Amino acid sequence: MAAADSSNGATTNASSQAVPRPPPTPSPLRYSKFSQAKLRILVTGGAGFIGSHLVDRLMESGNNEVIVADNFFTGSKDNLRKWIGHPNFELIRHDVTETLLVEVDQIYHLACPASPIFYKYNPVKTIKTNVIGTLNMLGLAKRVGARILLTSTSEVYGDPLEHPQKEEYWGNVNPIGVRSCYDEGKRVAETLMFDYHRQHGLEIRIARIFNTYGPRMNIDDGRVVSNFIAQALRGEELTVQAPGTQTRSFCYVSDMVDGLIRLMEGENTGPINLGNPGEFTMLELAEAVKELIEPSAQLKITENTPDDPRMRKPDITKAKTLLGWEPKVSLREGLPRMAEDFRLRLNVPKK
Ligand SMILES: NC(=O)c1ccc[n+]([C@@H]2O[C@H](COP(=O)([O-])OP(=O)(O)OC[C@H]3O[C@@H](n4cnc5c(N)ncnc54)[C@H](O)[C@@H]3O)[C@@H](O)[C@H]2O)c1
Repeated sequence: MAAADSSNGATTNASSQAVPRPPPTPSPLRYSKFSQAKLRILVTGGAGFIGSHLVDRLMESGNNEVIVADNFFTGSKDNLRKWIGHPNFELIRHDVTETLLVEVDQIYHLACPASPIFYKYNPVKTIKTNVIGTLNMLGLAKRVGARILLTSTSEVYGDPLEHPQKEEYWGNVNPIGVRSCYDEGKRVAETLMFDYHRQHGLEIRIARIFNTYGPRMNIDDGRVVSNFIAQALRGEELTVQAPGTQTRSFCYVSDMVDGLIRLMEGENTGPINLGNPGEFTMLELAEAVKELIEPSAQLKITENTPDDPRMRKPDITKAKTLLGWEPKVSLREGLPRMAEDFRLRLNVPKK
């Protein structure tokens, strides 16, 4: 097993070795001699975009009972419609800034608005969700001996001075900017995860998610892929933020869910980057959407938002070697699936 990375102490397995205390004891059900109980899994933010796809996968396995806790700020019951009423599924309207008492074996902690439009809407609430919400979920994990996975973000790298971004990179983040409620909130959430791990022996997993896209994204959430697809379908101009040469990488949601489950099930704490290393400029993405949906659409360059990173691309060596994971769905394959979902939701007839 590798020693702790000397540059920043970021760990994969190394910190598990240094843990002074054993993990909290899981439920006696796990050691039951005569019956194999289903795994009880809590998904916070499970009514959202990634969360609902994760719930689909966990439910489809047939081996789990899934509890979703969500305040429906950006998520919707609609995303979980097919599971409501299923005996292995429970949906709780709950805000993670309040404590939650449930008996579970695993916690996927996703609750947090992910798009700038929503996380900037009430920045104080966003940072409370990240800090108090994560503290509450860690407290729960400690009490019931559950393993907990945090969906952190590539935003912890800020406007990166290293490219592509490796997990060892500490980032270049503005602590007082308009995005800080999210970026710094997630950084504190990661800190809390590791402090609970070192101090209380909690089994933690941290995924650093890079831009993810797919069906069920909020249509008007201002994220670039949803913006372009919705604009093209509505026959509007595609608004590209200046200069248009800034890059992002886009991971299809089924690949992301696969990575999250592998991380939860594996032996590595992370942080581990999960994302698609294929890199596109915003202009290239706009052209791809235009070609797919409306070749006659016009592009319009608009003013950029403050602290918008110029480039973003994950180094996924760790995910490949430690989780045996890499994305399978290319942007050319994923965009039409998302466009079809948006077309149906926007009620736009097929051309
Ligand atoms: N989608 C991406 O590209 C991306 C990139 C990096 C990280 N992430 C992370 O992945 C997670 C899920 O993102 P998403 O894209 O599905 O976003 P989303 O907005 O669709 O989902 C977030 C969910 O959390 C719920 N929520 C928000 N605040 C809450 C609170 N205080 N209490 C309970 N529920 C609350 C929302 O109602 C929603 O259902 C987030 O933690 C996000 O930071 C996403």
